[in-house]
Amino acid sequence: MAATLEQAARALSDAKNVVAVTGAGVSEESGIPTFRGDHGIWVKYPIEEFGTIDAYLNDANRVWAFWCELSELVKDCRPNPAHYALAELEGIDRMETVITQNVDNLHQEAGSTSVIEYHGNARHLVCLQCRKRAPFDLDNRTKLAPKCVECDGLLKPDVVMFGETIPNYALFEASARAQKCDVMIVVGTSAQVFPAAELPFAAKERGAFIIECNREPTDFTRLITDAFLEGPAGETLPELVTLVKAELAI
Ligand code: APR
Repeated sequence: MAATLEQAARALSDAKNVVAVTGAGVSEESGIPTFRGDHGIWVKYPIEEFGTIDAYLNDANRVWAFWCELSELVKDCRPNPAHYALAELEGIDRMETVITQNVDNLHQEAGSTSVIEYHGNARHLVCLQCRKRAPFDLDNRTKLAPKCVECDGLLKPDVVMFGETIPNYALFEASARAQKCDVMIVVGTSAQVFPAAELPFAAKERGAFIIECNREPTDFTRLITDAFLEGPAGETLPELVTLVKAELAI
């Protein structure tokens, strides 16, 4: 793995089908903490107490309070140059779809129109009983975990907690897209959580060129990455897009 930024730009400008897989790192420069690492959310709030569906079922009010706190933190966050760079790639026909593990809606806010939300979206609630969805109105939130107006079942943030499955559409569509792309850009994910972490491997198996943007090497870097762009994605992705545009003379 010795390809440079220039080679990554060339791969993108020659590509017919580009897919991105993003994780918490793409939103870090928007002020949203990542999950792992020294200041990670799961360091302060252990997964087994706050991140699993069992934790929610055992003590919904406690986990609800955690989600409200997190949502409050994320509420005023805006897309950063990494989100805009991925949206710009779509604008120049070099991005089919962004598959994101994030639940913060920032890719859509940056202008990406084809986004697969692999782990859901924290702006919605879902009823655990009738599966109806409702908007999460943070300003009028209840102190206790809310109930469904239709069936009185327990509502939970519409995000995939540990112990839950990936929504069917996201699972199959993301897998199909990963197998079809000829370049995949993997941004700000630690490669720790499956099945999302399988997507770059699936792409590589079908011959895709893997560009990875991360502050630090991951298992992808060691195993499948063709071009590793080390550093904050808010810097490396805009640089990459500038070079792609130069290659394409636009
Ligand atoms: N630019 C690029 N990469 C960054 C940046 C940045 N500005 N900041 C952090 N990173 C990298 C970190 O080095 C790390 O590899 O982003 C990655 C973030 O990893 P995680 O915190 O593990 O986030 P993610 O991979 O998205 O987690 C996957 O785990 O807890 C679940 O459901 C949650 O969707 C999440 C899933």
